[in-house]
Amino acid sequence: MCGIIGCAGRQGETLDVLVHGLSKLEYRGYDSAGVALATDDIDVCKTAGEIDDLRDALSERELSGTVGIGHTRWSTHGPPTDENAHPHRDCLGEVAVVHNGIIENYQSLRDQLSTAGHEFRSDTDTEVVPHLIEDELADGAAPEEAVREAIAHLEGSYAVAAVIAGEDTIFAARNDSPLVLGIDDDAYYLASDVPAFRDHTDRVIYMDDGEFAAIDADGWTVTTLAGEPVDKDVDTVDWDPEETGKSGYDHFMLKEIHEQPRALRQCLRGRVGELTGEVDLGDLGDLTPRAVQFVACGTSYHAALYATQLFQQAGIPAQAFLASEYTTSTPPIGDALVVGVTQSGETADTLSALREARRRGARTLAVTNTVGSTAARECDHALYIRAGPEIGVAATKTFASQLAALNLLTLGITSVDDDREVISGLRDLPSAVQEILDDSVAREVAETYRDAESYFFIGRGLNYPVALEGALKMKEITYKHAEGFAAGELKHGPLALVTENTPVFATVTGDDEMARKTIGNVKEVEARDAPVVAVTDGESDVERYADHVLEVPDTHPRVAAVVANVQLQLVAYHTANMLGRSIDKPRNLAKSVTVE
Ligand code: F6R
Repeated sequence: MCGIIGCAGRQGETLDVLVHGLSKLEYRGYDSAGVALATDDIDVCKTAGEIDDLRDALSERELSGTVGIGHTRWSTHGPPTDENAHPHRDCLGEVAVVHNGIIENYQSLRDQLSTAGHEFRSDTDTEVVPHLIEDELADGAAPEEAVREAIAHLEGSYAVAAVIAGEDTIFAARNDSPLVLGIDDDAYYLASDVPAFRDHTDRVIYMDDGEFAAIDADGWTVTTLAGEPVDKDVDTVDWDPEETGKSGYDHFMLKEIHEQPRALRQCLRGRVGELTGEVDLGDLGDLTPRAVQFVACGTSYHAALYATQLFQQAGIPAQAFLASEYTTSTPPIGDALVVGVTQSGETADTLSALREARRRGARTLAVTNTVGSTAARECDHALYIRAGPEIGVAATKTFASQLAALNLLTLGITSVDDDREVISGLRDLPSAVQEILDDSVAREVAETYRDAESYFFIGRGLNYPVALEGALKMKEITYKHAEGFAAGELKHGPLALVTENTPVFATVTGDDEMARKTIGNVKEVEARDAPVVAVTDGESDVERYADHVLEVPDTHPRVAAVVANVQLQLVAYHTANMLGRSIDKPRNLAKSVTVE
């Protein structure tokens, strides 16, 4: 949801560093992009479109400067046009600003500034910031003071960075939107996320809300917005820059699907005693909740739905809430642990649900992929899923790792009869996923149904979230209609939509009562001429009613759902690829959604 970058100290290379950094942040938004370099003047180049469009625009320009800022946008205020692209400038063209977030009071600020004679060129909320800085400078404030004063007027969420003509410092501030500094020996960076500068340094400082940073070629400072010094730790990131490349795959999504065995191994490593089989979640402490409430969005919500079943099976009442609905539903907290499942750790809806839970006195836990993320820092506890960086907008390996981590969480704080079998199933998980990656016929299935009008996904129990996730993946990257249903619900309405043009993907694992009932639902759609694709471990006889079978290796029922999901990821990927879709950057979406 917009990516910002700043770089100081890379004499002669600033522009390249900015553009390269933006290409690493493109997953955060790709409607428009731009850069500003500061010397005695401010040079800006910006355009609607993706980073490649910015590169084209830059090829016709000569920009120079020792410090610079850049932006890649996911539109919130105003359509993706050249004018609305960041950076935005003041009237004199001496201040340039990039921003991620939403300035809630921008309309009243804009009205005041307009009345005072400022002319606006864009529809964005961001544009008020350079004009506010301009006013402070005109009133005689020194550059740093001018930026602090301007930012003090803002309400809402922001990670904002500004450069001023004649200044070799970048000023930045954060409130409710991520911002991280990169510390090198002789250069300094700031960005919405570490991949933007990970090729240059692994040393980072995570900024907190209400903090203000200044970086130049000689160093960095972080203070409160009011100017009080703040002690900051310099952390070291533990992943390699190559992990953010495509490694020969056509798309990040395909690469990340194939990285799942490794991601799962990383998630489990050191957390399950080799000899004892005991789950050790490090310094997570004694959680032992009487009840658990999960809050999450999108794919992470599907992981949360899966986890509620695990806790319920272990005798702990559990509920999953769409984070955006949590504050309106006001569930009683009691002695509940509230768990935010969020790979980015920056999703505004989830953060606000977690904050609401804390306000009501709950203990909170973030299950996240991102060390240093807002969720990780604000919650009482953090459980890292260790999937490594995920660049494709459609979540794949982070979903699998969330499911594995949530299994560990359940095992860590509850005790169920078949703990040892579950643990052994988890240990087999990476190789079971590898088997699918080696042998899947998902591509042929995708080819067969690439022209379908609509896709249905059904499942029961732990396979219900898999059905929802299969449909979400399909719709977000193919732009085709897809719906996931609890298998039993089909006959209560959606069956009316089923025709010979509606392939139904039925995930059926095991051979229990649930499997038998789902097979009953499969027969219902088969009777309406719908093609059936069974995603199955072959335990039941669902294959008899299926036109195609996507095989799932024989594993523990709990992990079968995780493995089955990989088949659906592959079907969605191949369908989208055959349709020529923008797989890694689907239209209208962004990976990290930092607005509510
Ligand atoms: C879908 C997808 C989104 C995210 C959702 C929450 O593929 O990625 O639905 O799952 O935006 O994001 P996080 O997990 O970062 O909170």
